[in-house]
Amino acid sequence: MSSLTTRIELNNHTAIPCFGYGTYKIKDASEAYESVKAALEQGYRHIDTAAFYENEKFVSDAIKDFMKENNVSRQDIFVTSKVWKTELGYDKTLAAFEKTMEEMQLDYLDLYLVHWPASFAFDDDWENTNRATWKAMTEIYKSGRVKAIGVSNFLPHHLKALMEMEVIPAVNQIEINPGFLQKETVDYCQENGILVEAWSPLGRGKSLSHPVLEELAAKYNRTVAQIILRWEIQHGIVPLPKSVNPERILQNANVFDFEIAAGDMAVIDAIPPYGNSGHGPDDL
Ligand code: A2P
Repeated sequence: MSSLTTRIELNNHTAIPCFGYGTYKIKDASEAYESVKAALEQGYRHIDTAAFYENEKFVSDAIKDFMKENNVSRQDIFVTSKVWKTELGYDKTLAAFEKTMEEMQLDYLDLYLVHWPASFAFDDDWENTNRATWKAMTEIYKSGRVKAIGVSNFLPHHLKALMEMEVIPAVNQIEINPGFLQKETVDYCQENGILVEAWSPLGRGKSLSHPVLEELAAKYNRTVAQIILRWEIQHGIVPLPKSVNPERILQNANVFDFEIAAGDMAVIDAIPPYGNSGHGPDDL
């Protein structure tokens, strides 16, 4: 994994940059626009948004302007969006996709994800709802308007029904931060050829003050954020850190010139739950 733009092949043979830029909670139009522009200017080529983030338009405006101003072609930038959990099911998913495409005004998306699964906690027919949503996702994929399809926040019991369908998810984007590696889900995905992406890779900033991580940061002469992001990369996970600060956007991307030793990886793996959101797919 040698740079921000190094790509990993997905199970459908499209390729995804191994590091991305997350845009959750950047709702303000100019802040979203400027932050995405800053990330692209600093070399990020993988931008993650979602209908739920209410910033798809500003994110894609920044991408389009950056491409035009810098003569960068569309295939050099990887763009992801997601269908929100109120829009699950066949018809609603198709309609949500059209709305996203209208907002973003792009010819295609690189990746479209089901943001949260239907769960037994709120849907008696949750497995069939997930199958119907996935049927719509498959149709969208076959239309060529998205290069790959995947899911987010799916645990192995949600994924199992999809593994029997015609197209299997290429990606599962889940919460991962120190103390919350979600090893069972990561192992299941990696054994089944599904790439894992990390949302909240820095625990929304909460993970940054952990004493064990501070010690490792001093040992490697790095920031805590860099230690965490490198730990995720070494686990084969694609982190999607969010920052609106250009210096931190740059700092977060400087994780390709050092290696965390196996013993220290195990130390981070062993950190007890600390910075995670506490919000899972089977909660109401
Ligand atoms: P800011 O946007 O002001 O930089 P996550 O990616 O886990 O969702 O975490 C995002 C939070 O972590 C944001 O509050 C962001 O604040 C903060 N953050 C991102 N990168 C860094 C960094 N390198 N150092 C300190 N805080 C950071």
